[in-house]
Amino acid sequence: MSQDARRANSLDGKTWTRHSISVWSDIRKSKEELALKHPAVFPAELVERLIECFLPPKGRVVLDPFCGLGSTVVAAQKLGRSGIGLDINREYLELARARLKGEEDGCRLIQADARDVLSHVEPESVDLVVTSPPYWDVLTRRRTADRKEVRNYGDEATDLGRISDYAEFLAALREVFGRVFEALRPGAYCLVIVMDIRKKKEFHPFHADLAAEMEKVGYIWDDLIIWDRRHEYNNFRPLGYPWVFRINKAHEYVLILQKPKDQSTQEAIGKQLGALEEELLRPDIRRSADRTAALLADEFVEFGSSGRVYSKQDAIEGMAKEAPARWVVSDFKAVPLDRGVVLVTYRATRDGAGGGPPFESLRSSVWRAIGGRWQIVFHQGTPAQR
Ligand SMILES: C[S@@+](CC[C@H](N)C(=O)[O-])C[C@H]1O[C@@H](n2cnc3c(N)ncnc32)[C@H](O)[C@@H]1O
Repeated sequence: MSQDARRANSLDGKTWTRHSISVWSDIRKSKEELALKHPAVFPAELVERLIECFLPPKGRVVLDPFCGLGSTVVAAQKLGRSGIGLDINREYLELARARLKGEEDGCRLIQADARDVLSHVEPESVDLVVTSPPYWDVLTRRRTADRKEVRNYGDEATDLGRISDYAEFLAALREVFGRVFEALRPGAYCLVIVMDIRKKKEFHPFHADLAAEMEKVGYIWDDLIIWDRRHEYNNFRPLGYPWVFRINKAHEYVLILQKPKDQSTQEAIGKQLGALEEELLRPDIRRSADRTAALLADEFVEFGSSGRVYSKQDAIEGMAKEAPARWVVSDFKAVPLDRGVVLVTYRATRDGAGGGPPFESLRSSVWRAIGGRWQIVFHQGTPAQR
């Protein structure tokens, strides 16, 4: 391999040093960006710099599964790369399209749920992701720090910014970034711009919580950059004064996560399948025929403990009708059987909290990588006692 093919990026040594400093304070929105009608546009300058640092010279495809007004796609196009953006909001996509110089160089803007990214992007075809998800449901809440007007992303039912339960919101993001993981080339970076969240007395370290969810699906959390936005604020208030000293947040994080170079490592696949099994035990996923259909192969068969044999359709209908329950997975093991075929075994415990008495079962599933996406071809569960 030539020296050039091994390079991380095309930066000269001086620029490399400047950009390697962990706090970025010099990023500015352009006048055009300041006038845009979107509550959370980030500057194309930020994305351009991230692309210059994290996209190898031969990398072409840059994806943003939550593209909003398309800052990532615009920056990718400016640098002669192919940007692909997904967003559920048609109005934002129209405004994003107006910012592009036509959909040239393979740039694409797609109205779609980020969880369906694999219906639009080939597995292992993406060289870099730069994105910023909704910051939980904060946009639906009153802004106490700066008292700016509340603006949210609209009324789409699939808008992740409308999920009020934090654990459910994080699980939905894990689902998105699990799919994005499959779309990324081994060794490629996934850069996620986020801010921590306070809701009255509760502090949520969103950047750390999201990174932990992403580690569960196989990413390596490599590092982070602090994006200093102090210059953008001129109306800070003494939050909590004079009773509780509260922090005015004026920075965001760029989380630097990487798909392992050797994607076939047993550990990475085990993590990914463990996360998918947990996803399939969540009541909101079990109720959604679209979600369960994506995780079960067409030839799926389940041997139930009653001796009944279930097809994919039977299983989808059965899950949709179940009373919601909370399940915990333990003793998880993943054993590769062949290339793209893995046997997983685990203990599933229904804790009795969400309805129904506590119950334990031993479960096994055979997962197959079909068209680059993991699906279950066989499942069996047996009641168990410790
Ligand atoms: C923080 S904003 C992204 C802003 C963008 N980086 C920019 O510069 O314009 C989050 C975006 O996620 C979109 N969104 C919310 N739920 C989504 C979902 N399920 N799939 C795709 N996009 C979604 C919202 O419409 C919003 O535009």
